[in-house]
Order: sequence, then structure tokens, then C-alpha cells
Amino acid sequence: MATIGIRRLSNGLGAEITGVDLRQPVDDSTFAAVEKAWHDHLVLLFRGQDITPDQHIAFSRRLGELDQHGSNPRYRLDDYPEILQITNLKVGGKPSDTRNTGRNWHSDLSYTRHPAKGSLLNCRQKPDVGGDTMFTNMYMAYETLSERMKAILEDLWAVHDVSLVAGIGERDPEKTAEMKRLSPPVAHPVVRVHPDTGRKALFVSQRVRSFVGMTEAESRPILDFLCDHATSHEFVYRHQWQVHDLLMWDNRCTMHLALADFDQSQPRHMLRTTLLGEPIGRLYNEAQAA
Ligand code: OGA
Ligand code: MN
Repeated sequence: MATIGIRRLSNGLGAEITGVDLRQPVDDSTFAAVEKAWHDHLVLLFRGQDITPDQHIAFSRRLGELDQHGSNPRYRLDDYPEILQITNLKVGGKPSDTRNTGRNWHSDLSYTRHPAKGSLLNCRQKPDVGGDTMFTNMYMAYETLSERMKAILEDLWAVHDVSLVAGIGERDPEKTAEMKRLSPPVAHPVVRVHPDTGRKALFVSQRVRSFVGMTEAESRPILDFLCDHATSHEFVYRHQWQVHDLLMWDNRCTMHLALADFDQSQPRHMLRTTLLGEPIGRLYNEAQAA
């Protein structure tokens, strides 16, 4: 018998789950209750999860196949390619580029042909204040558009481009070239149907360059409108981290943003697993442009 507690975190999305200890195997009925809560609330918070990489991976695997982070190979945890370090601690003796991960609104790995299904982020160390993460509900973003706008978007595809990852231009050129080579631009539908809930969600982000068949100049104002609309305060939850929080979000119906609202001289160290998504995209080449 599952006995989890569910407490909503905001009107837009998010719920805190209590009564689950991720250091232990999660029984099937508890897991089913967690998965239902995930579909209902999009972002789940589990407090007090002082878990090992193996425990983090074991729980994540219940939700689906894990990405090996081949698009960002330098920041995998040693011996655990399933775990990506989002950290301002040094990695391999050098400052980590992942200290500035997620500084524009995005859905993980949308710049690949297999955008992530979900991500599970465990806080290991945090600054005294700040380092918050914001999430927004892309079902609501879609549902609150006018019927005419929905009709316009229905068969549009958007070009997601890794070179629009915030701060990528400040990384060393060799690493940037590697990321671009690993992830050439890819097109995805602007409206996607969530495979588990059947609901439609808007699928754009600040990592989109243009719509397929339209110029960048034509696309930009529409993209800006959609991103502004999608991140309306009414749809957003802002998470203030505590050490050992584990947050799991559904990338198919949310976007998120990591805020730089903290003192970078203090450690912020987070570990992430990433659930592989179904392939929905196709490689984009200039010949498809307007
Ligand atoms: C991520 C990300 C959020 C954060 O791990 O996908 O965007 O707050 N990071 O570190
Ligand atoms: Mn992210």
C-alpha cells in the first residue's frame, strides 16, 4: 500500500512528495503513486535524499532508460556516465563549464534528436542563499493561447541549436566546436503530445533559432512572444534548494532556468541523471529553410 504524501508547491506546477526514502528500493505501488504524481504535477520534490550515485541511478532507471551524457562527455562522474555534474567545483583540476548550466529557459537536450524525457537533480552542496531553479508549465502555456494561434503552431517545427545554450560562447572554442559537432541543429514539433498523458504542450525554448520554412527575422518575434508567454509568472514555480533535495522534472511539458543569483565563490554541486526521450526530432539542414 503506497502511503506517500503530496503537497503542491505552486499553482502552476510542482509537488513535494513525502514518505519516500530513495536509499531503499521503492516498492511497485509506491512507485506507481510517484509516477502518477509526476504526470499530475510535472516537477516532484523529495527532501532529505542523501543518496549515493548508485541509489540515484537505481531510482532513475525505474522511470526509463538513462542517457550516458555523450553530448557533454567531460562532466560525467568518474565511473558513472549516467551522472552529469552540474557544479562550480573544479572537474579534472579545471573550472567546470557546467557551473553556468541552464542560464536560459530550456528543456534538457532539446538540441539533440532525443530530447530528454526527464531529469533528476540531487543537491549535494549549495551556497548560503540563492542558486534557485525556476520551472514553468508548458501545458498551461499551450492551453492559454488563442485558438487561432494554436492553429498556426499546429504543424510548425522549430530548429533547436546547441549554440544558443547560454554562455556557450564563453567556453573555450575547442569545447564549443566539440558540442556543435556532437549536436548539429535539429528540428522538433512546436506542439507535442505527451505520450503518457495525451495532453498537448508547447515545445519551444530560448534555444530555438527559427521555425522550419521561415526566416530568422520572421521567427524571432513569434519565438519571443511564445517564450515570454510560456514563462508568465502564473505558470512558474521557483525552487529554493536545500542540501539533499532531489527534484525530478518532466522535460516534455516543462522548461526550466537556473538562476545565477548566488555567490560563485561558494560551492554549488548538483548531480543529475537524465532519462532518454523518444526520438521526435529530425536533423535540420539549410535546404529546409525558407
Ligand atoms: C540542469 C539544469 C539546473 C540547476 O541540470 O538541467 O538546467 O539549477 N540545471 O542547476
Ligand atoms: Mn537543464
